[in-house]
Amino acid sequence: MSEVKKMPAHVAIIMDGNGRWAEKNKVSRVTGHNQGMLAMKEIIKKADIMGIKYLTVYAFSTENWKRSQEEVGGIFSLLVKFVGSELAELSSNNVRVHILGDYTDRVPQAAVASIEKALETTRANDGLQFNIALNYGSRAEIVRAVKKIAEQVKDGSLEPEQIADEVISANLYTGDENGNIPDPDLIIRTSGEERLSNFLLWQAAYSEFAFTDSLWPDFTPEEFENIVTEFCSRNRRFGGR
Ligand code: IPE
Ligand code: IPE
Ligand code: MG
Repeated sequence: MSEVKKMPAHVAIIMDGNGRWAEKNKVSRVTGHNQGMLAMKEIIKKADIMGIKYLTVYAFSTENWKRSQEEVGGIFSLLVKFVGSELAELSSNNVRVHILGDYTDRVPQAAVASIEKALETTRANDGLQFNIALNYGSRAEIVRAVKKIAEQVKDGSLEPEQIADEVISANLYTGDENGNIPDPDLIIRTSGEERLSNFLLWQAAYSEFAFTDSLWPDFTPEEFENIVTEFCSRNRRFGGR
């Protein structure tokens, strides 16, 4: 008899394939990112309806600065547009927005202002927690955590012997400062690529993975639901038996 498995509390998505979608449809890469943003809106709604507590999306990595100024500028302009058009509805749906990553470093001022508005507006909400990984890289996150921990040891508030898994977790972007987000149960990557690309390296220790060939702008709420349903039938062992 198959037991009923729990829904994932936290689903994280590597939204990949906007560029290839644009190429396929003979439009600009920024148009591809715009289409990706439309897909993201639908997935947020679906995750909320499905009762998922935490949805994290990888929107811009610390390595994505290597792209052209035009593309990078376009991505941040889309973020401003997204907040402008969606914030009221997100907030009325009780969604709380969090940012993982250093959103003040190198990020255009208009985008920083939009982010701060989204954080402020949704601060008291307690529905779906929507985490946007922005200017996020897992190695940078770990370096930052190690520095924070070293400071605590230096000022005498922490003994080296007290450094444990929980201490490291608490000092990551997913830690104390963003409400101690549980590790992702499921990480989905679109576009056929099967790698983490510097996403949640520590947090993914026991995550389940799902890969789909769909390019992100083509990813539908139905496909999302199918992947989550399939996840529910998996047997997670966490090293036990
Ligand atoms: C993902 O789509 C979005 C970001 C990285 C910002 P890509 O832009 O990486 O799309 P591909 O991989 O070039 O198709
Ligand atoms: C990962 O996608 C980053 C985001 C989805 C924001 P990339 O397209 O940047 O990753 P690589 O370069 O294919 O590994
Ligand atoms: Mg890509």
